[in-house]
Amino acid sequence: MAKVLLIDDEITMVQMVTEMLRADGHEVFPFSNGAKAMEALETHEPELVITDLYLDKTRAHGLEILQKARSLNPPAVVIVITGFGTIETAVEAMKRGAYDYLEKPFKLDELRLCIQRALSYNAAISENIYLRKQLRKKYEFSQIIGTSQKMQDVFKMVERVADTDATILILGESGTGKELVARALHFNSKRQFAPFVPVNCSALPENLLESELFGHRKGAFTGAIADKKGLFQEADGGTILLDEIGSMSPTLQSRLLRVLQEKEVRRVGDNTPVYVNVRVVAATNEPLEQRLKAGTFREDLYYRLNVIPINMPALRERREDIPLLVGHFLKGRLHDRTGRPFKITKGAMSALGAHNWPGNVRELENAVMRACALSETEIILPTDLPPALHALAPQGAEGNAPEDRELSPLLEEPPSTALYSMGGQRDAAEPKVEDLAGRKPVVVLKNFLREQEVAYLNRVLAQTSGDKEKSAQLLGISLATLYRKLSEGE
Ligand SMILES: Nc1ncnc2c1ncn2[C@@H]1O[C@H](COP(=O)(O)OP(=O)(O)OP(=O)(O)O)[C@@H](O)[C@H]1O
Ligand SMILES: [Mg+2]
Repeated sequence: MAKVLLIDDEITMVQMVTEMLRADGHEVFPFSNGAKAMEALETHEPELVITDLYLDKTRAHGLEILQKARSLNPPAVVIVITGFGTIETAVEAMKRGAYDYLEKPFKLDELRLCIQRALSYNAAISENIYLRKQLRKKYEFSQIIGTSQKMQDVFKMVERVADTDATILILGESGTGKELVARALHFNSKRQFAPFVPVNCSALPENLLESELFGHRKGAFTGAIADKKGLFQEADGGTILLDEIGSMSPTLQSRLLRVLQEKEVRRVGDNTPVYVNVRVVAATNEPLEQRLKAGTFREDLYYRLNVIPINMPALRERREDIPLLVGHFLKGRLHDRTGRPFKITKGAMSALGAHNWPGNVRELENAVMRACALSETEIILPTDLPPALHALAPQGAEGNAPEDRELSPLLEEPPSTALYSMGGQRDAAEPKVEDLAGRKPVVVLKNFLREQEVAYLNRVLAQTSGDKEKSAQLLGISLATLYRKLSEGE
């Protein structure tokens, strides 16, 4: 059981929570005065601090308490309680290292759960599980490529907030990797063994989406031939990604708001609430402000979702990542006919670097896949790129003269400690492609089959413009299997 320092200026609240904590066997130091609590932090060395953000208005502000608690040795885990209208401060608190926040009014059970998680998190750190988690993180993040400052900022934020239950809003143009980041959030949290459920809110008409999300009772509407669990329930214990949140209808927005507030869902045609423990991550590729102004997106929902925004940079704002991304997409692929690993000429790489990429990383991935399919040899030339890009290559880089076949140093080794993938760095020291001519590499059968599978999966993905759901359908496998196959062996 833990030493808990509790600070709130509402006496009744302090009494209630103190009783609960003591009943649960914790040692509690309750305070209704911020200044006294500041002193007590040093004398009592609590493991857990629960603090209101606005304490007796003029003196010790909750953020100061947070800062002091985090600077203790060992640092205390801090849960922040926020009142109405203090959401911006909650964001600030999360940024400064609060473990989680709870909004008033909350149920005691919610606080209890939050405390349990916070304490087990703390225990995990002291048991050194933390280090192992760091290793796993590195692995999971390796799917997201980027050494640019903008991507490093994204990684830092994902790392900071992954293991909290805070609602996250991922903003970014189409193809910038929003879903990838949502998955990284899930797989770097304690929820990783529970489901990750992505839902595209713009893909279904309102009624269907409603019954998808919340489920329905048999007979609730024509066609409801049996009871159906909603996706919120399917995601219980895990994470739900509400993609294209901007296109959600006002009715569904208010239902979602209730789920966020009450943590309960009600099926269509059923008034019995079902408690769900789901972390909500929302994504959008349109700035929601316009919808707010037009009154088609609820302001209260917006503020709830936007507690922690993660902004995905457009690819044209981080062009320095293009060679690494190209290396990542080429990694492990062999040319159909020559059986040799793909290379790319400087001319083709410079064309890729000059394009504006309105479709961002997805467009780049498709362009690279297309080039692999079209290229006569394993060397990708500007002429293998989509026509618009072809024109961007420097004059005379057609690949006819030997100097035009100079390869791009795309596979340079990136700094080794970062979180991004090491996309093909081994190839950096390989002999020039000419030296390999004529030598047919022998590949272990399993690897060969795997190559073929990956190539085929990528071809289908390219055909569906990267639509994984559609690809899984075409391939006759589940979406989960597709994801597994795509991530296997990376
Ligand atoms: N940083 C990255 N590193 C490697 N691959 C990436 C990166 N960003 C995106 N991708 C790839 O680009 C494709 C699009 O990514 P994703 O689906 O996450 O984008 P999105 O922002 O959700 O797009 P949309 O708004 O169209 O839904 C995926 O195949 C993904 O694997
Ligand atoms: Mg998406």
